[in-house]
Amino acid sequence: MKRILVTGSKGQLGSELRALSLNYPDFQFIYTDIDELNLTDQNAINTFFEKEDFDFCINCAAYTAVDKAEDEPQTAMLINATTVEYLTKACSKKQIPFIHLSTDYVFDGKNYKPYSETDAVSPCSQYGKSKLAGEKAAFDFADTAIIIRTSWLYSSYGNNFVKTMLRLGRERKELSVIFDQVGTPTYAGDLAKAILDILSGSKIKTGVSLYHYSNEGVISWYDFAQAIFLESGISCHVKAIESKEFPVKATRPFYSVLNKSKIKNDFQVEVPYWLDSLKLVLKQLEN
Ligand SMILES: NC(=O)c1ccc[n+]([C@@H]2O[C@H](COP(=O)([O-])OP(=O)(O)OC[C@H]3O[C@@H](n4cnc5c(N)ncnc54)[C@H](OP(=O)(O)O)[C@@H]3O)[C@@H](O)[C@H]2O)c1
Repeated sequence: MKRILVTGSKGQLGSELRALSLNYPDFQFIYTDIDELNLTDQNAINTFFEKEDFDFCINCAAYTAVDKAEDEPQTAMLINATTVEYLTKACSKKQIPFIHLSTDYVFDGKNYKPYSETDAVSPCSQYGKSKLAGEKAAFDFADTAIIIRTSWLYSSYGNNFVKTMLRLGRERKELSVIFDQVGTPTYAGDLAKAILDILSGSKIKTGVSLYHYSNEGVISWYDFAQAIFLESGISCHVKAIESKEFPVKATRPFYSVLNKSKIKNDFQVEVPYWLDSLKLVLKQLEN
């Protein structure tokens, strides 16, 4: 039986890992969130790691409020980067492989083809900068780690674009949604399955490796909203607008499609098409 520590387990990804756990009887999960293990407290981490033994640590904890991070860059940095240093140091002491999540927002969005792991990073927001600093902490302090950058995460758990659209679409006759930011939605359940399949499969190689994972396909937020309404039978009209017509605090990349060849080649993980996963989540929400 392998023991997996899941931090930040009450978020979207953590909740999906919990929902999938029954499908992985060889794993025993230890779930923590800020109340059980506040990752900004290095002593608490060290005490926790002295008391408990794990075979893997999946770090789902993060500061994910992209616009709020513009006003709270230090808090974002503390949660998205400093805690990664604390956790990786604790993991390295006991030689525990560390699985960490990062974001497409480490890129500036000026690419014209899907970003691969070797493409230059240049975040255009405080959130992106803090997540990039988290990646660097993992590279600097982890003995063995897998960092997975993902994009446009959603789930039936937590707050996300899909749930916001469902709520607003039922309240309003028309909604304006931006069409000039292009990327790929990722169902957190698909990402959770990919992570657990990686951990169930071949031995993780020593060192720190970087991967990209999202669902398959390329769309804009406008297309995403249209699909959510179409699949849910919501008759709200979607008006396509440019990003400059919807001012927000944080700048987002215009193009943030991720190339997933490396993770597919190394681990043969499943990468469902975004619309298939969306249909599945809408069904879950209906029930
Ligand atoms: N959401 C996206 O669109 C997206 C896109 C790309 C990448 N990612 C990355 O994917 C990963 C998972 O994202 P997610 O959407 O599942 O995140 P999420 O739903 O925001 O969950 C993060 C969890 O971490 C907890 N947390 C915050 N500070 C903590 C602390 N000091 N100690 C322990 N736990 C703490 C949060 O608690 P509170 O809720 O109480 O703060 C929350 O339960 C993150 O690394 C994120 O950066 C997300």
